[in-house]
Amino acid sequence: MKSPQRRKGAKKKPKSKPHGSSFFFFLFSLLFHISPFIFLFLIGCGPARNNEAFKKLSTKEQNKYQKYIIQGRDLYKLNCASCHQTDGKGLKKLIPPLAKSDFLRANQTKSVHLIKYGASEPITVNGISYQPTMPPHPHLSNLEIAEIMTYINNSWGNEFGFMDGKMASDFLK
Ligand code: HEC
Repeated sequence: MKSPQRRKGAKKKPKSKPHGSSFFFFLFSLLFHISPFIFLFLIGCGPARNNEAFKKLSTKEQNKYQKYIIQGRDLYKLNCASCHQTDGKGLKKLIPPLAKSDFLRANQTKSVHLIKYGASEPITVNGISYQPTMPPHPHLSNLEIAEIMTYINNSWGNEFGFMDGKMASDFLK
C-alpha cells in the first residue's frame, strides 16, 4: 500500500515572532477579566452565605454587614486568632471556643466589654470554666469591635446576629 505523502513546502506557515511580552499581557488581561468573578466567588464563600438571619436583612444591610464580616475577619486574624484559633474552637481548657459558644450567644454586651477591657472574672463556656486571662484591646475602635462581633457571630455555623458601630458604642456606655 502506498502511504499518502505530504507535499513538501506547499503552504509554509510564517514563522512566529518571538514575543515573550505578549504572554504576560495575556496573563494580565486574563486576570483582569476574571477578577470580578474571583471577587464574587470570595463573597459567595463568605461566612454569612447560608445564614437565615442574613437572608432576612434588606439588601442595604446585607451589603453593610458583608463588609463588616470581611473587615472583621482580618481584625480577628490579627487580634484574636492566636488564642481563639482560626477555626474559633479555642484551646482546650485554656481558651474558650467562640464557635457554638453558649456564652457568646447569650452575652453580647458582656462579650463587647470583654473585647475592649479584657477579662475580670472566670466565666463558663459550654460547661467548662475558664480563667480571666483575656487581655484588653484598647486600640480597637467601637466600629472595629462591631465588625469583629459580626464576624464571630456569623462564622463557624454561629447565627448570633449582627452588630453595628452604634450598638457597640451603646453596649460600652
Ligand atoms: C491571650 C489570649 C486571648 C486573646 C488574644 C483573646 N482572647 Fe478572648 N478569651 C480568652 C480567655 C482566656 C477567655 C476567658 C475569659 C474569662 O474567663 O473571663 C476569653 C473569652 C472570650 C469571649 C467570651 C467567651 C466565649 O468563648 O464566648 C469572647 C466572646 C472572646 N474572648 C472574644 C475575643 C475576641 C473577639 C478577641 C480578639 C479581639 C479575643 N477574644 C482575644 C483569651 C483570649
